Amino acid sequence: MTTPKTGCPLEKLNDLTPLSATTTCPDPAAAYQRLWTDWGGPVAAVELEPGIPAWLVMGYRELRAVVRNEQHYSRNSKNWRLLADGHIGADSGLAPIMFPRDNAYFSDGATHRRLRAPLVDGLARISEHRVARDVGETCDRLIDRLPADGQLDLVAQYAAQVPMLTVAGLFGIAPDLGDRLQTCVIALFGSGEDSAERFHEMETILTGVINEHHTAPAEDLTTAFLHHPCHRDDGEVLASMLLMLGAGWETLQVWIAQTLRIMLTDPRFDGKVRGGHLGIDDALDHVLWADPPMANQPTRWALTDTVVGGQRIARGDALILGLAAANNDRWAGAHDRHDPGNRAHLAFGVGPHACPAQRTSRIIARTAVETILHRLPDVRLAVPATEIPLHPSPWTRGPARLPVTATRALGQATPVPSPRSTEAPPNR
Ligand code: HEM
Repeated sequence: MTTPKTGCPLEKLNDLTPLSATTTCPDPAAAYQRLWTDWGGPVAAVELEPGIPAWLVMGYRELRAVVRNEQHYSRNSKNWRLLADGHIGADSGLAPIMFPRDNAYFSDGATHRRLRAPLVDGLARISEHRVARDVGETCDRLIDRLPADGQLDLVAQYAAQVPMLTVAGLFGIAPDLGDRLQTCVIALFGSGEDSAERFHEMETILTGVINEHHTAPAEDLTTAFLHHPCHRDDGEVLASMLLMLGAGWETLQVWIAQTLRIMLTDPRFDGKVRGGHLGIDDALDHVLWADPPMANQPTRWALTDTVVGGQRIARGDALILGLAAANNDRWAGAHDRHDPGNRAHLAFGVGPHACPAQRTSRIIARTAVETILHRLPDVRLAVPATEIPLHPSPWTRGPARLPVTATRALGQATPVPSPRSTEAPPNR
C-alpha cells in the first residue's frame, strides 16, 4: 500500500487498492476502514480499473461538502484530465457511466437545472396509485413465468427483470419492447463488443416511442417529457429517456435483491415476514443505510487544485462518492440510524444532483418485494447465507444470485400496495 504523498499527482501513485475491493468483500466496513487508516483520513486514492486512479471520498461531511460545491466540483467528465490526455481508451469499461453525454447527469449549473426540470416535473405528475398498480401487474406477469415449484434465482428471474420493465412502463413502453431494452442495457453496461450496436438499437426503439407519442399522447413520462418547455427538441427528450432507463436499471435491481436477501436471511426481518407483519419499508430503509445500492457513486471532477479530507486534489482529478462508507461514518448519526423514518442516509445522493426518482423507486422496490413474497408464500433460501455470491462491480454491492426454493401460489390476486411513506427526503 502506498502511503499518502502530499502533492504527488494521482496518476503517479502505485499499487492502489482496486475500488471493487470495497464492493466484492464480505465486510465492506472493514475495507473502508482499512483505506481510511492507510490514507490517514476520509479521502483515499483507489484504482477504478488498471492504471486509472481516482479519489474515494468516504467522510459524511466531506462528501456533502463536495457535492454541494458546484463551483469547485463538476459533474461533467469533459473536465477529467486522464480522459482529455488520452489515458483512457474508448473501449474502457468506464465508458458507459463516466464518458460525457449531453444530459442532466453530466451537466452543471443552469444547463443542469434546465435538463433536470422535466425529470422532476414528469415524475411528480405520475399517480402513485397507478405506478403501484402497473408495477404490481408487471411483477405478477414475471412471477407467472416462473416454474410452479422448485429452485429459482430471485436475481436473474426477478430482481433483474423488474426495473427495466417497470421504468419502461412509466414511459408507456410495451412489455415486449421493455424486454428488448433490457437486453440492450445489459450489453451496454457489460461493455461487450456489441455495446455500440445495442446502444443504437435502444435509440431506435426510443425514437419510435417518441414518434408514436407525437401522434398519440398519453398519460405517461414520454408525453410529459415531450411537452416540457425545458426540452428544446426530440434529441433532448431521447437523451433524458436514455438517462432515466440507465439510471434506474441497476440501482433498483440491487435495492430489490438486497432487500429480499435480508428478508430471507436476517431474523429481525424474517420474523416479521413469517409472522404476517410485513416490515418491508424497514427492510428497504435498512438496505439504504447499511448497504446502499450505489455503494460508490461516480463522479465529481475537481475544477481547481484543492484539499479535501487532508488530501491534495489536483484540477481534473476524479472524485468518487463513497456513499456506503459515508453512511457508516460516525457523522452520519449511525447510532440512531434504525429509528423509523430516519432517512438522513446518502443512498440517493445529496445536493443538486440527488436522485429525482426517490419516491417512484420506493414504490417500485416495495411493490416488487411485497408481490414476490405474497406469491411465493413458502420461499426459503436454497444455500447458506454466507454462500450468496456478490455481483462483481466497483459501484454497486448486491447479490449476483439469490437461489431459493419456493412454490408459486396460483391464481391469487395480488393486492395493490398502498403508496404510503413515499415522501422523498429533502435534498440536503
Ligand atoms: C426509477 C428508478 C430510478 C431512476 C429513473 C433514477 C434516475 C436518476 C437520475 C436521472 C439521476 C441524475 C440526476 C441529476 O444528475 O440531476 C439519478 C441520480 C442518482 N440516483 Fe437515481 N434513479 C432511480 C433509482 C435509484 C435508486 C434505487 C437509487 C439508490 C437507492 C438511486 C441512486 C441515485 C444516486 C446515488 C444518484 C446520484 C447522486 C449524485 O451523484 O450526486 N437511484 N438518478
